[in-house]
Amino acid sequence: MRTPPTLTDRRLAAVKVALFVAALAPAAHLVWDLAFDGLGPDPVEALQRRTGAWTLNFLLLTLAVTPLRSITGLHWLLRLRRMLGLYAFFYGTLHFLVFIGFDHAFDVDAIARDVLKRPFTAVGFAAWAIMLPLALTSHQGAIRALGGRRWQALHRSVYAAGILAALHYLWLAEALLWPILYATLLALLLGWRAQDRIRRHRPWPTPPKVQPIRFFRK
Ligand code: HEM
Repeated sequence: MRTPPTLTDRRLAAVKVALFVAALAPAAHLVWDLAFDGLGPDPVEALQRRTGAWTLNFLLLTLAVTPLRSITGLHWLLRLRRMLGLYAFFYGTLHFLVFIGFDHAFDVDAIARDVLKRPFTAVGFAAWAIMLPLALTSHQGAIRALGGRRWQALHRSVYAAGILAALHYLWLAEALLWPILYATLLALLLGWRAQDRIRRHRPWPTPPKVQPIRFFRK
């Protein structure tokens, strides 16, 4: 069987730079459209939609790393996960900023009322609030301070963020095709993890009791 290719440190660094630039492209595109009136008749809605969609894209990409690594054997994929997660948080924060800045002119009362009044906004806010401590503890120092197990347990809440984000999208969208596609993809990714966990924790099958072969009747 062929072993999957590994990456030298230099190649991995090049892949990381390429990913960093590629992941920044949607934000650059947004800034460009904002500067040159490319956002259509309702720029705030366009900003909200595009930043929301990219938050979800990066959340799903982050959750896809472990299954892809396991299926392909490309272990270096794991080294890209932190950057993907941080980009999910970055676009989520832009999305939130559009909401608090453009939608509500930083009026804390109006923001709180809207978050509490519209359930889909509350669900989106919950997803972002879950991502906040994950982004803050995404560095090596936090892993050392919290200890591996606690850090991992905390970072498992990204699954809850994914579920809430998919729910937020399903709830607010008028056309359901895209939200359903995203939710299906998320269900597949989480389902893969669940079955992988079950497989790992399943005890070794006990061999059936072997009966001695009897050649002669007693
Ligand atoms: C992980 C966090 C979040 C994700 C993944 C997310 C995702 C999305 C997506 C995909 C859309 C719809 C885009 C479209 O219509 O094509 C959207 C719209 C929206 N989101 Fe979020 N969102 C998140 C957090 C939030 C937060 C924190 C708020 C505000 C508190 C918020 C408020 C809104 C609003 C107001 C809209 C526009 C609804 C409309 O079109 O009327 N979202 N979001």
